[in-house]
Amino acid sequence: MTTPPSQPKRRVHIRTYGCQMNVYDSDRMADVLAPLGYAPTDDVALADMVILNTCHIREKAAEKVFSELGRLRNLKQEKAARGEQLTLAVAGCVAQAEGAEITARAPWVDIVLGPQSYHRLPELVARVARAGALPANPQTGAPGGNKLLETDFPVESKFDHLPEATQGQGIAAFLTIQEGCDKFCSFCVVPYTRGSEYSRPVAAVLAEARRLVALGTREISVLGQNVNAYHGEGDNGPVGLARLLRTLAEIPGLDRLRYTTSHPRDMDDDLVAAHAELPQLMPLLHLPVQSGSDRMLAAMNRGHTADAFRRIVDRLRAAQPGLALSSDFIVGHPGETAADHAATLALIRDVGFAMAYSFKYSARPGTPAAGAPLQVAEALRDERLAEIQALLRDQQQAFNRSRIGMTMEVLFTGPGRHPGQVAGRTPWLQPIHLLGPASLIGRIAPVRVVGTQPNSLSGMLVAGAGQSHLTPAAQEPAPV
Ligand code: SAH
Ligand code: SF4
Ligand code: F3S
Repeated sequence: MTTPPSQPKRRVHIRTYGCQMNVYDSDRMADVLAPLGYAPTDDVALADMVILNTCHIREKAAEKVFSELGRLRNLKQEKAARGEQLTLAVAGCVAQAEGAEITARAPWVDIVLGPQSYHRLPELVARVARAGALPANPQTGAPGGNKLLETDFPVESKFDHLPEATQGQGIAAFLTIQEGCDKFCSFCVVPYTRGSEYSRPVAAVLAEARRLVALGTREISVLGQNVNAYHGEGDNGPVGLARLLRTLAEIPGLDRLRYTTSHPRDMDDDLVAAHAELPQLMPLLHLPVQSGSDRMLAAMNRGHTADAFRRIVDRLRAAQPGLALSSDFIVGHPGETAADHAATLALIRDVGFAMAYSFKYSARPGTPAAGAPLQVAEALRDERLAEIQALLRDQQQAFNRSRIGMTMEVLFTGPGRHPGQVAGRTPWLQPIHLLGPASLIGRIAPVRVVGTQPNSLSGMLVAGAGQSHLTPAAQEPAPV
């Protein structure tokens, strides 16, 4: 959508923390603000509006917001001294969980809005603009009107109200298909910050995917806090993730599909079968397990055992031998003993992960685990985290090295860091760069992996490359 000529040109700076769903939401907020004349800017100093799209998952993530708000207060005061207005909004999961605390601790914030209310931004911005006409508080730089706090869970989904994405989301794009969580793991804030599970209807997902592809996207990661619990309404009743992926795979020009984040409990036979069937479904699966100890998995309310996870991995690998696994681990959940920790290390050794995220348990207010007895001492948590991370790092490096000499399909997404380089991603989501023409960007071409760096691979174009196509080589690279 183009800016109506009557609207003044304004700039919005959106800073995104947390998961991919926040990245997706930030783009949606930019879309709702575009008709008001707001264009995105990376430079906070140029902004007429700043939105912090926040994450509440661990204490550190949430605390970052308050230190950032301190800095923005200064910017707002400087602008007020020049007679300019800076509208400040806090969105995302900290807004949802700590809305009242934000308005009390940071009264210079104009708008606090939870993840389900982004379609209401234009109305809130208009109300702030009206309040801004009142004299500002000289101490805080806050406008004269009331703070606007919008953290209800509306009956209707925000997806029914958000406008269509108007700008391309890039060659590899995110598409949220499911939000919220009903699983209530002992440690996790998501069911409280995002609300209960909701799946977007199939038609809405397909329409958005087609639009993205028309705008140049070639790879889509469908997103949800529990994406494999997806059950969106189709023509003949609810449809599961596997069926949705099969339908997405029929969209011409959509060469690659991924889905994240999954729960082991929702890994059904149909989804496992989809990995065998669909060449577009990329062979890296992020499947968080959190712990390898049955005692801890029960305390975490995960609803499965460590062996059940091993069996799921076996089924997936039988369906798709090239499949690699990624996961999340929490170290030092209340009650975790040395034996529990050893069981996690054993599971990591048994499964072998291509990459993984591991976190030190962080007590979150309002979650069952925060009040549990037997909190693990900080020093012990640090020690266990270091041990797990060293093992996971070794496994990642071994996986990366195992790709050397293979030829694989790379999707080129942009220029590399050095002149003459292009960068992209392998089927296993590894960043890869090589010397090659910029005309490769947006295309898929066969690349031979020649080296590994700690966080990326380097490659060489295979002779005759440059054709835009998808071949089965993406799925089963031939070891050389
Ligand atoms: N829905 C996903 C996870 C979403 S949160 C799932 O069920 O797996 C992303 C990751 O953050 C989690 O997998 C977990 O490893 C980590 N995490 C969540 N709460 C945490 C906490 N209180 N402390 C430390 N890590 C946490
Ligand atoms: Fe959080 Fe558990 Fe839901 Fe994942 S499944 S979002 S960890 S409560
Ligand atoms: Fe963080 Fe909310 Fe995502 S807590 S991880 S931004 S769902």
